[in-house]
Amino acid sequence: MRMPGMRQHNQMPIGETQGKKRDILLRLIKLVLKHYKFSLLTVAVCIIITAVTTLASTLFTRTLIDDYIVPLTQTAHPDFAPLAHTLFKLAAVLVVGVICSYAHNRLMINVTQGTMLRLRTDMFQHMERLPISYFDTHSHGEVMSTYTNDVDTLRQMINQSMPQALNSLITISITMASMVVLSVPLTLVSLVMALIMAWTTTWLGKRSRRHFKVQQQRLADVNGFIEEMMTGQKVVKVFCHEQEAIEQFEHINEELRGSTYNANRIANIVMPVNGNLGHLSYVLIGVVGAALILGGQVSLTLGTLVAFLTLNKSFARPIAQVSQQINSVLNASVGAERVFRLLDQEPETDHGTVTLVNAMEASNGVLIPVPHRTNMWAWRIPGQDSKKPQFVKVDGGVEMDMVDFGYTPDKQVLFDIMIHAMPDQKIAFVGGTGAGKTTITNLINRFYDIQDGRITLDGIDVQDISKPHLRRSLGMVLQETHLFTGTVLDNIRYGRLDATDQDCIEAAKLVNADGFIRRLSNGYQTVLSGDGGNLSQGERQLLAIARAAVADPPVLILDEATSSIDTHTERLVQRGMDSLMKGRTTFVIAHRLSTVRNADCIIVLERGRIIESGTHDELLELRGKYYQLYTGRDI
Ligand SMILES: Nc1ncnc2c1ncn2[C@@H]1O[C@H](COP(=O)(O)OP(=O)(O)OP(=O)(O)O)[C@@H](O)[C@H]1O
Ligand SMILES: [Mg+2]
Repeated sequence: MRMPGMRQHNQMPIGETQGKKRDILLRLIKLVLKHYKFSLLTVAVCIIITAVTTLASTLFTRTLIDDYIVPLTQTAHPDFAPLAHTLFKLAAVLVVGVICSYAHNRLMINVTQGTMLRLRTDMFQHMERLPISYFDTHSHGEVMSTYTNDVDTLRQMINQSMPQALNSLITISITMASMVVLSVPLTLVSLVMALIMAWTTTWLGKRSRRHFKVQQQRLADVNGFIEEMMTGQKVVKVFCHEQEAIEQFEHINEELRGSTYNANRIANIVMPVNGNLGHLSYVLIGVVGAALILGGQVSLTLGTLVAFLTLNKSFARPIAQVSQQINSVLNASVGAERVFRLLDQEPETDHGTVTLVNAMEASNGVLIPVPHRTNMWAWRIPGQDSKKPQFVKVDGGVEMDMVDFGYTPDKQVLFDIMIHAMPDQKIAFVGGTGAGKTTITNLINRFYDIQDGRITLDGIDVQDISKPHLRRSLGMVLQETHLFTGTVLDNIRYGRLDATDQDCIEAAKLVNADGFIRRLSNGYQTVLSGDGGNLSQGERQLLAIARAAVADPPVLILDEATSSIDTHTERLVQRGMDSLMKGRTTFVIAHRLSTVRNADCIIVLERGRIIESGTHDELLELRGKYYQLYTGRDI
């Protein structure tokens, strides 16, 4: 069971510098700009127009009071026409402002959603190119949360923080300029108050961010715990640990509440404090302004003072907002960093140029490539220096020559592996748990690259074969079966996407899976979900074997393919598999030695080394490890 507080999630690693955060943000901005230059330019123009129209309407109060309302009160026969005309102009300005504001919001939705779409696609495409070793070292939950939580922090930042920051900066600059024009002394008062507000917000923000980081960490802990408890629910029940799980959850849940409380406690003070400072600033300007008017300051009229008071409000708000937005941008940079970390992972390298093609034998015995399926395959070896390509028949002969391998540089798993599998032969691997059987098969299809030695397929180094083509030539039934959400038929068709329904049913019949499939509620159309959770282990394995059968590959690798099948079904499957294996090289890994008896060569592995090899009879005669495993007797 996992311990609380183990996961690092949505957290900037310790020692992260401001410079790195800046680089991440610049990269994100570049990414958005790359595809949406024109949209963002339009958004900037719209924001400027909106800010100008807001300012214009504010300044209008001065004209309204000084030029229209005050004179109207002083004439006996007031003429309302000029006032109506001006009000109409103001309405027009406001309408322009509203249209620009609407356009900016609409465009930003496009930009944000488009960027998210591209990011998710880029991430997925990149993920599909990553080597298997990446998935060995990253939990599913961690990769999943990059697609959801981290991408979402970017959404908020691109959609809200960036345009708001631009809006605030523009508003601050033009409001400030207008305030200076209206009255320098009042501007000074306003500026002092604004600085106090900015300082308070930054100070409180810094303190709240410390708690916010803890909150994100605790949130990740809660998410991780729930995820793990859901996948491990059966184990929890088997060992009756429900109560412990609840207690552990309550503990981390309480920690999350505490840290969220702290973060919000401080963050929630910012608004009221700023609000009150804003009121104070309003009163101060009112008092100073009134004093100046009473003191006979000619340039300061009543209208100017009213306009200034309104401007002061629109000045204070963005100042407080900018600090808040900086906080949210810094938080988003944590998410961006995790997204980029995934995108920057080194993809699987593939320098192979040899490809797999459908072929036909011409009357003179020469192989020629054809575009349609012929059930005969050839390796196309590109000719060097404009020479014609060569075609070599795919026979499925596999050789391993002094192969050394380790998943990590510090721990070697396989030592000097020598295997000579002739076309059509059945090679079996036996050996104890962790001996290296699965590892050997993972090297043939290049899930991992070897450290030393050479592996060839039909005499061609597997390093020279393009990976997708190499893997297409190898049919694998993996040790862990995986079924996708979809019908039984779709799952079998996964082996070869252009297979017809009939091909899939034939394949199922061949491996004796047809019987159980027909007994399912909807036969071949039964929908499987949750990795085929509604099937038994044996049934899942039968489907996996049928999937390999429909692919019809020249080389078959069956890793413990029959381990969960009862002895009766196993005999049926064995018969099916024997016909499936006919005409192809097959590697079989099985714990049940009865299934490997008829192999052409049995290879016995122990701690990563081949200790014996030969036929069943030869190995029994040898009275070594195989004899011991087979008979259960000590030597
Ligand atoms: N992804 C991996 N990363 C690091 N080490 C691994 C990885 N997979 C396997 N190993 C290690 O390599 C060794 C060989 O493992 P392998 O899976 O090949 O054994 P196996 O013979 O197939 O065993 P089993 O019969 O239990 O399936 C083991 O010591 C195992 O711990
Ligand atoms: Mg294994």
